[in-house]
Amino acid sequence: MSENLSPIIELRNVGQTYDGGENWVLKNVDLVIPDKPAQGEFVVLLGMSGCGKSTLLRYVAGLQKPTEGQVLIHGKTIDQAPRVGMVFQQYSSLPWLSVLDNVALSLSYKGVAEKERQERAMDIIKKVGLEGHEQKFAQYPTLSGGQLQRVAIARSMVANPEILLMDEPFGALDINTRLQMQELLATLWLEFHPTVIFVTHDISEAVYLGDDVYFMKSNPGEIVQHIAVDLPFQRTRELKRNPHFIELVHQVEDKMVAVGKLK
Ligand SMILES: Nc1ncnc2c1ncn2[C@@H]1O[C@H](COP(=O)(O)OP(=O)(O)O)[C@@H](O)[C@H]1O
Ligand SMILES: [Mg+2]
Repeated sequence: MSENLSPIIELRNVGQTYDGGENWVLKNVDLVIPDKPAQGEFVVLLGMSGCGKSTLLRYVAGLQKPTEGQVLIHGKTIDQAPRVGMVFQQYSSLPWLSVLDNVALSLSYKGVAEKERQERAMDIIKKVGLEGHEQKFAQYPTLSGGQLQRVAIARSMVANPEILLMDEPFGALDINTRLQMQELLATLWLEFHPTVIFVTHDISEAVYLGDDVYFMKSNPGEIVQHIAVDLPFQRTRELKRNPHFIELVHQVEDKMVAVGKLK
């Protein structure tokens, strides 16, 4: 993490309570993500269920405000929903619309004209490997789980957002599909270079995709550790055999175990 670049996302001393301060879900959370417009940044959050990862993403999406502390984007508090894309674990597409209409919908909110909407939607549909499926309903089992997550990724990226929030996006997929989706995301990230906050429980996935991995403890949730992933910019599957990749996977596991023991 570099403090020299101006930050795109800052969480400053963030705390969350739902019972007037008796219990704190999050406390003293600090996270500064530098803005690298021509490059992007890929931040991974690791932590046990319930430690507050999804809550942090909701803050950045402007869907929730913390009880205390500040959440800033480009140095400003979030007054209106910022330009972020979001992908969740559960299929979040509209099942009564086609793949094409689901993807184009994100642009209609922004007032993009019909023809351009269709063109831009088709462009990203091709990039996520769904060409030929664009007229199908975005529902299971018409599309497989992996295809539905491709739709979700296309929807989240069609407007080329600066910030992409991904909450365990591949958690429900079989391992082969998951590996394919990791490749897809690594490729799209290189092309669009958004700032990503990615939540996962998969250590190998964290190291493969992440530039920076942050570790959260629970009760109250707090970011307590960080590893910078010093691997080549372009990730390919062969990298997973690289001794340094393997060493990083072990380091992340050790830190997870250590953080899991923190009170
Ligand atoms: N509206 C709410 N009222 C009370 N507790 C809540 C509310 N929303 C979330 N929580 C609690 O906040 C904690 C963090 O939730 P969450 O951010 O979803 O965790 P994670 O994504 O890390 O699993 C959980 O213990 C959850 O039960
Ligand atoms: Mg969650």
